[in-house]
Amino acid sequence: MIYLIGNWKMAPEKNTQAVDLVKKTAVIAKQYKKTLVTVICPPTPFLSLVSKNTKVPLLVGAQGVAASEAAAQTGLVSASMLKENGAQYCIVGHSEMRARGESNDMIKQQVDRLLEKKLIPILCIGEKSRDAQGWYLSEVKDQLDTAFADVSALQIKKLIIAYEPVWAIGAGAERAATPIECREMTVFIRKFLNDKYGEKIAKAVPIIYGGSADEFNARSFVEEGGTQGFLVGRVSLDAKRLAALAKSISQEKK
Ligand code: 13P
Repeated sequence: MIYLIGNWKMAPEKNTQAVDLVKKTAVIAKQYKKTLVTVICPPTPFLSLVSKNTKVPLLVGAQGVAASEAAAQTGLVSASMLKENGAQYCIVGHSEMRARGESNDMIKQQVDRLLEKKLIPILCIGEKSRDAQGWYLSEVKDQLDTAFADVSALQIKKLIIAYEPVWAIGAGAERAATPIECREMTVFIRKFLNDKYGEKIAKAVPIIYGGSADEFNARSFVEEGGTQGFLVGRVSLDAKRLAALAKSISQEKK
């Protein structure tokens, strides 16, 4: 199965638009349910509304979680609350959250809280920029080392890793990564998992790609980039484009 995870970020603005988008995305999820696991991650205020308007095979995720369940944390939401409102997945470590000050240690605690509540973390990792010598690999290694400190083999099977190079994300992105760049990082992450948890686990953890993924480039990431799915930003807000993306990655290999 290929993961198609939509990160709506801070959109859309209105409840009615969120309901419209979830209904359209549900049609796509149903159409491709044999090949895709489709998940949408709306902003927190829409979580309950979206969950009520969704049914399997379209699944729901959240975009962030507090690092602890303590109640005195103004502005944050706990893993229990996310679960209560229909989330089964949750994005953590997104570069837009890291840019607002979230550290590798905080992200590790968020992963722990989600696993405790049996929510599936979508752990985002990725380098800010690339250099010819490959030092960016150590940035990603630090992110992995911290996130997986004390995470047992049993827990890790319940997690998705999203490789999102920061330079490839959003409207201001330089460009998408190439499938070759994606493959290099997928192999690097897989090797990390293999060294720490062994081959069986390393093979079981889905590694997906995010960063300017669209209906034109997605298939090449599946065929040549070694990815098992996508974390999609802008295109997830446009049902027509999302449908085209879904179709492109669902096609049988020629
Ligand atoms: P875009 O697909 O808009 O580049 O965003 C990627 C992303 O950040 C998904 O989490």
